[in-house]
Amino acid sequence: MKSKKVKESVTIMTQIVLPNDTNPLGNLFGGQLLAWMDLASSVASKRHSEGIVVTASVNNVSFTTPIALGSVVTLEAKITRAFNTSMEVFVDVWVEDRSGKNRTKVNTAIYIFAAVDENGKKRQVPELIPETDEEKVRFEGAMRRREMSLILAGKLKPKQATQLRALFE
Ligand SMILES: CC(C)(COP(=O)(O)OP(=O)(O)OC[C@H]1O[C@@H](n2cnc3c(N)ncnc32)[C@H](O)[C@@H]1OP(=O)(O)O)[C@@H](O)C(=O)NCCC(=O)NCCS
Repeated sequence: MKSKKVKESVTIMTQIVLPNDTNPLGNLFGGQLLAWMDLASSVASKRHSEGIVVTASVNNVSFTTPIALGSVVTLEAKITRAFNTSMEVFVDVWVEDRSGKNRTKVNTAIYIFAAVDENGKKRQVPELIPETDEEKVRFEGAMRRREMSLILAGKLKPKQATQLRALFE
């Protein structure tokens, strides 16, 4: 299986916040942003693995900045590391205000997708080759985040963790 670069699967999605997407304060409903992030990251992981993917885990989502009605929201999803049958994806989110002059980064979410075949059986994914400094930093950290995510999901015992064991001793 041929290794792939981050740029081969990067996925950019742009949305405008419409009235139906907002909460009673006129800001983007959090669940809508989560759905957009899930879509963008599923396309990136589908492109990387060249097949069907399912969301295995959503980590590190926090809503620090309200996103107003009429804002333009741009999501950029990039694979940060591929494991055996799973991939970590970072989704960075930017917002442009109504004037289009001010663009602010408002969110970064971390998703894990698992690659499956037509019968839902897990399948191997290609390795990821990080190229830029940011890609290399995210690639290195992915192993620690994966252990944390698996421990929280009850799929890995803290004693079995190689990178994070010290945190639990
Ligand atoms: C995700 C799913 C395929 C995992 O299947 P499983 O039989 O439990 O298999 P595993 O535990 O081996 O997990 C498969 C891969 O996902 C990773 N994974 C699973 N849960 C994870 C979690 N919470 N955090 C990080 N990685 C996780 C595993 O580490 C493994 O990766 P690897 O092969 O690269 O080492 C399965 O639970 C599933 O189909 N879930 C439903 C998915 C879905 O419907 N999503 C949409 C929800 S709305």
